[in-house]
Amino acid sequence: MRLIRSSARASAPGKLVLFGEHFVVYDNPAILAAINRRVNVTVHVNNTDNINITSDLGLVGSFKDSRFNLLSGPQETRTILAPLCECARLVLSERGCNRGLDIDLVSNLPESVGLGSSAACCVATTAAVDSLFHEPDRYWISEKAVEAERLIHKNSSGADCHISTFGGLMYFVKNEGFRKIYSKKQLSLGLINTGRKHSTGKLVSSVKRFKETNVTSFKVLTLFSEIISQKAFVAINEGDEKTLGSLMNQNHVLLQEIGVSDKKIDELVNICLTKGAWGAKLTGAGGGGSIIVSFPPNSYELKVFFDSLDKSELGGQSIPVEVDFSGVLVA
Ligand code: MEV
Repeated sequence: MRLIRSSARASAPGKLVLFGEHFVVYDNPAILAAINRRVNVTVHVNNTDNINITSDLGLVGSFKDSRFNLLSGPQETRTILAPLCECARLVLSERGCNRGLDIDLVSNLPESVGLGSSAACCVATTAAVDSLFHEPDRYWISEKAVEAERLIHKNSSGADCHISTFGGLMYFVKNEGFRKIYSKKQLSLGLINTGRKHSTGKLVSSVKRFKETNVTSFKVLTLFSEIISQKAFVAINEGDEKTLGSLMNQNHVLLQEIGVSDKKIDELVNICLTKGAWGAKLTGAGGGGSIIVSFPPNSYELKVFFDSLDKSELGGQSIPVEVDFSGVLVA
């Protein structure tokens, strides 16, 4: 396929897992929402056969065949940038093109805290590179982005790349696909970033060990998770946020059982509940990361708590978020 332009831009949103994280890896449903924080990627065709990647996190490196030249950033830079190089290579090979690229990433999504930053990077990079050739197809983008994301997190369910590509709210089942969810109301969700980074791959592996050593309990927990996600689907449809909050609390208990919550997350969840939240839970892989909170309108006490977080010894930061309905955008 011929290049139709020599540079392109794309952006993709981060996400929240509202229900069913971890269980989704084992073909159980999850509910996700895209959020209005994005990763922006610009690509330029260059005159070498190198894939040069620069991220605003200060990571800079150049890939040529199987070699990597670290230009700035810590030792792990290669591991962090490799999936983005893979996205570019997957597209270039599919389109029969062997040109080099300069890829620049700018993000307003905190990374490694459960907000889907790796997936959004893969989706935006795939879309930007593919749009050098034609108008990209969203299904194709999400499929390729998942392939690349599996370089860092090999058992990825693919949920994060799907929600980042398509946006909105979605009921997702690995190997089956997704259904969009339409809500009667804009959900009012609070988000707390604990500031503690995690490795999704390690947490998914720890849940795998839990599953293998607790076969019966894992089956029971999986069944509960499925029921909770199904009820949440209905509650979102109906705009019933109170029920949604109560389902979040039930989901959080399951995540505690499989060992991905911890004392600090539970403390934050409990404080939110005592200050009037309808529900609160960790979101994403856990082990630090972020917490989502469902709350009634005009929750003054909670608002004060959110505002005071970064100065308190609990740590954390409240991040205002809304659901993003656009998904990946190509400019
Ligand atoms: C991470 O955002 C969600 C997990 O369920 C992993 C996955 O779905 O691949 C923990």
